[in-house]
This record gives sequence, structure tokens and C-alpha cells, in this order.
Amino acid sequence: MSERLNIHPVPQYIEESIPYQPGKPMEELERELGVSDIIKLASNESPIGPSPKIYSQINDNVDAVRLYPDAAHYYLRERLAKENGVSPEEIIIGNGSNEVLEFLVRTFCVPGDNIVSCAVAFIAYRISAKIHGVEYREGKLRNDLKADLSSMSTACDERTKVVFLPNPNNPTGTYVEKQELCSFLEEMRKRKCLVVLDSAYYEYVIAKDYVDPIKLYKEYPNIVVTRTFSKAYGMGGLRVGYGIAHPDVITAMWKVKMPFNVTSFTLNAALIALDDMEHLKKSVDLNTQGLEKMQNAYKEMGLRTWPSQGNFVLVDFERDPIPIYSALLKEGLITRPVIDFGLKTHLRITIGTKEQNEKLVARLEKVLS
Ligand SMILES: Cc1ncc(COP(=O)(O)O)c(C=O)c1O
Repeated sequence: MSERLNIHPVPQYIEESIPYQPGKPMEELERELGVSDIIKLASNESPIGPSPKIYSQINDNVDAVRLYPDAAHYYLRERLAKENGVSPEEIIIGNGSNEVLEFLVRTFCVPGDNIVSCAVAFIAYRISAKIHGVEYREGKLRNDLKADLSSMSTACDERTKVVFLPNPNNPTGTYVEKQELCSFLEEMRKRKCLVVLDSAYYEYVIAKDYVDPIKLYKEYPNIVVTRTFSKAYGMGGLRVGYGIAHPDVITAMWKVKMPFNVTSFTLNAALIALDDMEHLKKSVDLNTQGLEKMQNAYKEMGLRTWPSQGNFVLVDFERDPIPIYSALLKEGLITRPVIDFGLKTHLRITIGTKEQNEKLVARLEKVLS
């Protein structure tokens, strides 16, 4: 392009924001590395994918290609309302729960406001804040890698509109216990802050004292619960997640939602996924077993990990993890460095199938030796 572009500059906060860095497509990596059948344990995807029943609906509903989807998400909202014991007016559907998180920043913040999260939190909160001219603040991380809620409170001021608490968090896999969470929610209520309980990994949680976010929502109306079909339901590629909140919050968020943000195939697939609880159980059970095996395997290799409530483990190599990441890549295994989250010696590694986990252990042992 030889013509010089002559337009108004983009706002400074857009100029300064750093976009999400996507990885290379799998096919490209396979070609570059000269390997086939790469195992991807980098994005916390379900290794068994979605309910097989959703594939046939794609063939059965070809007309959906021609027609715009239902902008009101009528059936899925009805269904999710029933599942969660709330009304459809308390539900909003997003193109992934990521979009719901962004709706919240767009709806409740103006440039100069701030949002607060914990240290080493899911990266999308920061990105959403920056691209809307909103300051991103964070609390500290405790030694056990749990969110330090009191430092999150300290980070809040009168311009804090939304607080994002990933529970469980990605990439640490940690969660906050009930009592601590309730006192924090009490304080946020006094501050008139919305508190987002990002529950993307909800289905995987095994901790007995994890408190159901929907129960909390019924007690604290300033809570927004976000959930997704991308993880345990195995539908990351279809992009669908949702938020549950007070009808007034949903009505406000609805104003920033573009009408056809979720495709008909995706809306139908979510309904089918909700009908196939057997598949969900299979996905969760596989993760629970894999998680235990992998935690033990890492321990046997002398590596430090933390108890995880998700479908991944954060592994501390106590040195620059990039040579290990690169060596694993050459062995056909993609893991996730988490330097962008602020963790400089760790890799986040998703739980795979039994076979994938075994391959990972064998290859990691080889790489470490
Ligand atoms: C904590 C957390 N929240 C939200 C998301 C967004 O997921 P999705 O947009 O696929 O629903 C992710 C994805 O990795 C996540 O880890």
C-alpha cells in the first residue's frame, strides 16, 4: 500500500493497549515442526469435545445458514433460567462468556473509571478495561496463589464500577472459600460495586467448601455469575457463554449487545449439550481422574504444582520455562507459558485424555532429563 493514510488518530488508550497474542494454527505448527498429531494442552479445551449429539443438528438445520439467528436467544435463555432457578430476564447470552465480560465493562464503565481483579487473573479483564479507556487495578496474590481479597478491597475506590473474581481462577486453578468471599461481597455491596464471579470452570470444581455462585447471587443481588459452554461442555469453537444477574443489570447490558451475536447452530448446540448430562459427566469425570494422576506425576518429577479446581495444572519449573516449552513442542506437545499473566517460571498444562496425559509424562520426563 503506497498511499499515505490520512485519518484521525485512534484514541490513546487503544494505541497503548496490547492485543491478545494468538498462537499459530495447529496445521502450521505441524508443518513447521515436521510432526503430525500434535497434542494441544494449551487452551483448557475438553479433550473429548462436545456431546456427539450436536453434530447431527448441524446437518439437520441447514436452513440456519440462510436465516439470521434468534436475537433474543429465547429458547436458550428459557432453558438456562430453568437450570439455574432464575427467570429468563436474569440471563444474557454471549459469544463466549468472554463477550459477557466485555458487556460488563462497556455497560458500567466510562473512561477514567476502574475495574479491579486479583493478581494473575484471566487476561480478558485487563484487555477489556484497556480498550475502553478504563483503568485496570489488581489486588495481591497470597502465597498459596489464592486471590488476596483484602488487597482487592484496598484497590477499590469511588470509581471502581466492576470487580472481577475468577473463581476458580485461570491460570492458578485456585478458588476462594465461602466465609472470606461472603465478607468481601458484603463490603462490595456497601461500595455499590458489581462483583463478577467468573465461573468458567464451575463444572470441574471438586473442593467441598466451594460455594455455588448461583446461591450467592440469590443472597447478593450485586453479583453477576458468568458461565461457559467452552470448557466442560467441550464447545470452545462454537463460542457461547452466559451471564446471570439482576434483571436491571441484564436490561442495561442488553443495550450494548449487538443483535445476532450467537449463531443458530451454536444456540441449538447449547440446548442439546444441556440435554446430554451423561456426556458432561463423562467429561468432568475424565478430568477429575486425569487431574489426580497428573498432580501425582508432576510431584514424582519433583515439580511444584497447586491444587487445581479446573481442567489444567499450573506447574512451576523454578527456571525459565521456555526451553522446556520449546522442547515439548518439538515432541508434538503444546503447553502454555504464562509470562503474560506475570508468572515467569511456570507452564499451564491442560488435562488431556488418559493417552495424552501418559504421552505428556513420558515426553516431559525425557525433556527434563
Ligand atoms: C477464567 C476464564 N473466564 C472466562 C473465559 C472465557 O471463556 P469463553 O469466552 O470461551 O467462554 C476463560 C477462557 O479461558 C477463562 O479461563
